[in-house]
Amino acid sequence: MSNNTLSITDNRTGKNYDVPIEHDTIRASDLRQIKVKSDDFGMMTYDPAYMNTASCKSEITYIDGDLGILEYRGYPIEQLAEKSTFLEVAYLLIHGELPNQEQSDYWVQRIMRHTYVHQTLTRLMEVFRYDSHPMSILISCVAIQSTFYPEARNVDDPKVREKQIWRIIGRLPTIAAFAYRHRIGRPYNYPDSTLDYASNFLYMLDNMGERNYEVDPIMAKALDILFILHADHEQNCSTSVMRSIGSSRVDPFTALSGAAGALYGPLHGGANEQALLMLRQIGSVANIPTYIERVKKGELRLMGFGHRVYKNYDPRAKIIKKIAYDVFNVTKKRSHLIDIAVELEQIALNDPYFVERKLYPNVDFYSGIIYQAMGFPIDMYPVLFAIPRAAGWLAQWAEMVQDKDQKIARPRQIYLGAPRRDYVTIAER
Ligand code: SDX
Repeated sequence: MSNNTLSITDNRTGKNYDVPIEHDTIRASDLRQIKVKSDDFGMMTYDPAYMNTASCKSEITYIDGDLGILEYRGYPIEQLAEKSTFLEVAYLLIHGELPNQEQSDYWVQRIMRHTYVHQTLTRLMEVFRYDSHPMSILISCVAIQSTFYPEARNVDDPKVREKQIWRIIGRLPTIAAFAYRHRIGRPYNYPDSTLDYASNFLYMLDNMGERNYEVDPIMAKALDILFILHADHEQNCSTSVMRSIGSSRVDPFTALSGAAGALYGPLHGGANEQALLMLRQIGSVANIPTYIERVKKGELRLMGFGHRVYKNYDPRAKIIKKIAYDVFNVTKKRSHLIDIAVELEQIALNDPYFVERKLYPNVDFYSGIIYQAMGFPIDMYPVLFAIPRAAGWLAQWAEMVQDKDQKIARPRQIYLGAPRRDYVTIAER
């Protein structure tokens, strides 16, 4: 037997098994041969929250959690943030290579041509109360689009997949902007496809009918970089939901509305909203020690800190921290929260509680401060995460749909419930 195997001895039976190793993993299904009785189901792995389970093979994003490395299709996130644009990164994630000029022009033209939403969707928007959370509005408005385009369920047709990808990436900023305008009782600004992706989004959010309205290019660039940083992150919670729902071969609108639901959670994409609320609750640098003590007692979590994969500084957080100062220079609204955040980071990075647990600032720690300086309401922050992450969700979904290794996702369980028993009438209970 080649040395690329794992030798397992089942001490219950004394039997030995050699299991092939590939990519430093073993196939869980290879463990099924390990049985005590011949009619046993066979051995499984038990891995709640998939702490140590690879669910797929992917070529899209590489993370090294110990070294704090993030690469999209092999390109370091630092270089893409400095030199690329979000739409170019979206193309890279979905198609695997950076586009040439002709490919880029066509891609941008197609997406900016799909920024208008169906009028039925604007009527749906009207039924939401003014205080509805914009993530709930976004999730509903993404899902309803499956009723407009029934052909989207032909997920094995590359041309059908491509068109839904244009529609989703093109329309998410419009849905987000309309949700924002609906909640503040202002008329919608319809998309302006002559603007770039981030500028068009800011225009739809802010224009109040001024004829000479100009989007600030520094703000648009800062938002575009934030979109690049949030675009994909391998098999995070929401991406694994996108893959799991998509594995039933449902249309991508329905799958993506589920992924957005997972992102909404406070432990995932909702953490940027929670991190800013936390900084507000702390209120001043003087209050940090008391807050830290409550965290160390387990009463609270330091929102925007910690990560399942990064056991070093999240490379995205480093870049975002720098962008914050660029935005402050434009908005002239240097939030005092940045002082609390920087001091909180310094204290936490030197406190044994956080050092032992390798807890560092993650992507959500500083992003909220930028969004606040840009004037976004706090509950819009997870929406600002969902818009760019749609590119990653769609890239991962398209890869899954074409992966011959994949089937409908259906994990097993360890049953520890009641043994078989007979029904008892209510009179006998
Ligand atoms: C994102 O997966 C991704 O890639 C996600 C993401 C992406 O781009 O898709 O990067 C985006 O979701 C970033 C994470 C945003 N979430 C938060 O900032 C919420 C606060 N962070 C935590 O809840 C936590 O760190 C998680 C959820 C991010 C990770 O949790 P794990 O890996 O399940 O770790 P754990 O909960 O088992 O914690 C391990 C230990 C525990 O202490 P002990 O029980 O061992 O004593 O670390 C402690 C935890 O109590 N801990 C924290 C903490 N995070 C972990 N203690 C205080 N504050 C925290 N933030």
